[in-house]
Amino acid sequence: MRVAVYHRPADFENCCFADVNAVVIDVLRASTTIIAALENGCRQILAVETVEQAFSLAKQFPRDQTLLAGERGGRRVDGFDLGNSPYEFVREQVAGKTIVLTTTNGTRAIARAESAASTRILALTNLNAVTAALLEENKPVAVLCAGREGDFSQEDSVCAGLLVEKLLAARSDIQAGDGVEKARRLAEKHKNNLVGMLQSTPHGRYLTSIGFGLDLEYCARLNGSSLVPITQIGSIVATATTA
Ligand code: MLT
Repeated sequence: MRVAVYHRPADFENCCFADVNAVVIDVLRASTTIIAALENGCRQILAVETVEQAFSLAKQFPRDQTLLAGERGGRRVDGFDLGNSPYEFVREQVAGKTIVLTTTNGTRAIARAESAASTRILALTNLNAVTAALLEENKPVAVLCAGREGDFSQEDSVCAGLLVEKLLAARSDIQAGDGVEKARRLAEKHKNNLVGMLQSTPHGRYLTSIGFGLDLEYCARLNGSSLVPITQIGSIVATATTA
């Protein structure tokens, strides 16, 4: 089983991932929020790249069963029901609903993975569950870090490194491809202080400065969920593992 880590969106901009299982990471905060929404019973998440696409797609669903969600600059978009804080996606809000989601980097990375055999969503909160699902499928894996405004973001690469560590620990036949060593080094350095690592990153500091400091603690909850969000015909739904 071959594993490659793409640390920056530019590295996978024009890649074709046929026959590869893609894993998209946006620890702060799209991946974590998608997992929270599915944990709390939302029916499906439709991830789109632009605000215009979100408004237009939402019109195709009954208003009372649909939520528009997402951010620009970390804040809820005008006219949307929810922003991108995992704390907003509580059961009373999201159970049974279709969520149309657009975020600056996360949903863009999901769109870039569209050629993959499958796309799973990974955050620190579902690390063990995604690891188990990938091991079970035993296909080549491409780990796509959403990054920040096209560039590297440490928190996504650390999460990628933790995933790689777990895959390597579980199986001796993993072939480490591009980007794996860098991810492992970062994970090794930060794995004992994930909250501190999130607080020290540029995006973590920015979120704190606009009032979302508590989100970082939520996003650092290692393995709080056993759900694996996966794309199915353009929609993200939850699968559970026994991990
Ligand atoms: C993104 O996709 O860029 C984010 O999830 C930003 C955020 O809301 O923290």
